[in-house]
Amino acid sequence: MKFFIDTADIAEIRDLAATGLVDGVTTNPSLIAKSGRDFLEVLAEICDVVPGPVSAEVAATDTQGMLAEGRALAKVAQNVAVKVPLTPDGLKACRTLSGEGTAVNVTLCFSPAQALLAAKAGASYVSPFVGRLDDIGSDGMALIAEIVELYMAQPELETEVLVASVRHPMHVVEAAKMGAQVATLPPKVLRQMFQHPLTDKGLSDFLADWEKTGQSILKAGSAAQ
Ligand code: E4P
Repeated sequence: MKFFIDTADIAEIRDLAATGLVDGVTTNPSLIAKSGRDFLEVLAEICDVVPGPVSAEVAATDTQGMLAEGRALAKVAQNVAVKVPLTPDGLKACRTLSGEGTAVNVTLCFSPAQALLAAKAGASYVSPFVGRLDDIGSDGMALIAEIVELYMAQPELETEVLVASVRHPMHVVEAAKMGAQVATLPPKVLRQMFQHPLTDKGLSDFLADWEKTGQSILKAGSAAQ
């Protein structure tokens, strides 16, 4: 499974990219607003730090407007994936941009029927939002299971399932078990994935016992007499 990080905070992106675990980045207008940065400037910077796909969302709602914005975004760097909403206009723009060789991430997907349309429109990625479904008392992960099953039953569809609106590590684990190809994680969730209290306790016990040996791995024969 590929891990994208869901932020436009360049400091977070640099920090997490250094782990070697980050395959791409997703942004949306809310995340750009939160960054307080100029969109194209921060996009170029992110694309420089992370060589994998970086999703950048259009703001227009009509096909022609989305095409103009999508082409401008795609010019920023070769690894930009243009994000369009799952609307009739968005899918028309998706078809055209994909035909021009631009990767398209179709966002705001909340049903298997929508995911089928996105794939038929030639999307490289479809982004089902699990957390926002959970938030309204629906089952976000059930949607992922349905889309993965649907795409597997139609092998000619090449769209990857990009699990979005992730709220906690179990969303990622469940999505991986289901066979989703990508999850986009808020930085906090990626950090949470490292954590286990028994890892911390085990490490602290090992270090205390190691201290008692008086040895240093880098100094041969350093055992205390
Ligand atoms: C990413 O592509 C989505 O825009 C993002 O995951 C939405 O997450 P949210 O529901 O936490 O805003």
